[in-house]
Amino acid sequence: MLAIIGGHGLAELASLKITHRQVMRTPYGEPSGAFLFGTLNQHEVIFLARHGYGHTIPPHLVNYRANLWALREQGVNNIVSIATVGGIRADLTPGTIVVPDQIIDYTHGRDATFYDTRDAAYTNANFALPFCPALRNRILSGANIVQQPCVDGGVYAATQGPRLDSIAEINRYERDGADMVGMTGMPETALAMELGLNYAIAAIVVNYAAGRGDNNRGIDMEQVNAVANAAMERVRSILECVVSSDGG
Ligand code: HPA
Repeated sequence: MLAIIGGHGLAELASLKITHRQVMRTPYGEPSGAFLFGTLNQHEVIFLARHGYGHTIPPHLVNYRANLWALREQGVNNIVSIATVGGIRADLTPGTIVVPDQIIDYTHGRDATFYDTRDAAYTNANFALPFCPALRNRILSGANIVQQPCVDGGVYAATQGPRLDSIAEINRYERDGADMVGMTGMPETALAMELGLNYAIAAIVVNYAAGRGDNNRGIDMEQVNAVANAAMERVRSILECVVSSDGG
């Protein structure tokens, strides 16, 4: 089964026909909210709002472990994450949808592994390719079918937040090879890998990163929300296509 984790601006999925809601419990605590079970384009999906349905959970306080654990318990094997990012690379302008193929972790102090006790029989998750190539392709070909431009590949810098970045930090991420910056990609991507879940991000560029484009003094949240809302319509049409393609 496929799950969609909605980020900023996607706390609901209008075209999802909800069959039931269920509150989940896990050994790691409670997920961000009740899971919404339903069908999208006649295919079963589970939807979860990463920041809670009232958008009250900041990125560093999301219980990523509980979210992913509970999704796996429900038989989910594919997860499409919708995330908003700031664009560092010149072509990643506000409104662009991009499917990253690499990630760098700048977060700290988050519960970043399921192997957090000394007696855990741990494995070293193979993270060379952090995102599932097949699921990435499903997003890209879905976008192609519904004729929505979608950038293939890019490096996602995952920052701690909840504050935005200084210009010097963005310069550093760019020197490191990052193309976009967001706050929720880690540890979500790594935890999905530890659980053996196929995981990919469809990222929406909602603003220029600090010191890029017209962003020299910070971002205007109203503008960001307007860009996010407009792009979400396009993301929804891509998702409807993704759920219909093979892979479960
Ligand atoms: N920086 C970090 N995270 C973000 C940004 C940004 O500019 N935009 C959306 N998420």
